[in-house]
Amino acid sequence: MNIILFGPPGAGKGTQGDYLVKDFNLFKISTGDLLRKEIDNKTSLGNEIKSIIERGSLVSDNITNRLIENVLSDKKYYNRLIFDGYPRTINQTQKLDEMIIKYDQKISCVLSLKVDQEIVTKRILGRQICSKCGLIFNKFFNPPKVVENKCEHDLTTRSDDNVDIIKKRFKTYHQETLPILSYYQKQNLLHEIDGMKEIGIIYKEIGGIIKGLDTWLYIIYLYNEQ
Ligand code: AP5
Ligand code: MG
Repeated sequence: MNIILFGPPGAGKGTQGDYLVKDFNLFKISTGDLLRKEIDNKTSLGNEIKSIIERGSLVSDNITNRLIENVLSDKKYYNRLIFDGYPRTINQTQKLDEMIIKYDQKISCVLSLKVDQEIVTKRILGRQICSKCGLIFNKFFNPPKVVENKCEHDLTTRSDDNVDIIKKRFKTYHQETLPILSYYQKQNLLHEIDGMKEIGIIYKEIGGIIKGLDTWLYIIYLYNEQ
C-alpha cells in the first residue's frame, strides 16, 4: 500500500511521515526534500528551483513527476511509499494515477491534515531540521534532545521559512493544491485528520487508520513495538 500525506505548509506531513517510516517499515518520499537536494547540488536546475521555492510557487509538474517516477519505478519501494507533498496539482494527481497503474501499485489512503493558518505559521517559524539525521524539530513545540537516535543534532532552518514566503505558500496551496482533495474524496480514499492536536495524538489516529487498512502492516507495527 502507498499513502498520501496531504496538507498545507507546516501541517505536519514530514513529521507524521517520519513516525510512519519508523513504525511500519515504509519509505517517505518528500518532493520538497528532493528539490532541496537538487538545490544543494548547485546545478543550474537547482538554481532555477531555488528561485521558484523562494517565491512560494510550485516547481513544474514535469520536474516533480519525473522525481516521483524515479522512485516509484524502483522495486525496492514497491507499494511501500508515503508521499509527502505530492501530488499538489491536478496534473500531478492524474500523472500519479497513471504511474500507479503502470507500476502495478495501489494508493490505499489520503490522510489530510487540517490546520489553522495562524498556528502553523508559528510552527514553520520555529522549525529546525537536523542536517545529519534529517529529523524535524520545533523550538516552540517539539525541541530536540541533545543526543537522540545516536545523533548529535546539527540544527538548520529552511530558506523558505519566513513570514513573506509562508503567506505565498499558503496562497499557492489554496489555489492549486486544495482543489485536488475532492478528487480523492470521490474515490473514497480521503481521511480528514485534525492537525491542530499534539503530534503524538495525531499520530495515534493516523497509525490506527493504517493498521485498520492492512493486516500485514499491523503485524509489522507490533513487531517494531517490541
Ligand atoms: P515542502 O518542503 O513540501 O513544504 P510545505 O508543503 O510548505 O510543507 P512543510 O514542509 O513546510 O510542512 P510539513 O507539513 O512537512 O510540516 P512539518 O512536519 O515540517 O515544499 C517546499 C516547496 O517545494 C514548495 O513551496 C514548492 O515550491 C516545492 N514543491 C514541493 N513539492 C512540490 C510539488 N509536488 N510540486 C511542485 N512544487 C513542489 O512540521 C512543521 C513544524 O511544525 C515542525 O517544526 C514540526 O516539528 C512542527 N509540528 C508538526 N506537527 C506539529 C503539531 N501537531 N503540533 C505542534 N508542532 C508541530
Ligand atoms: Mg515537509
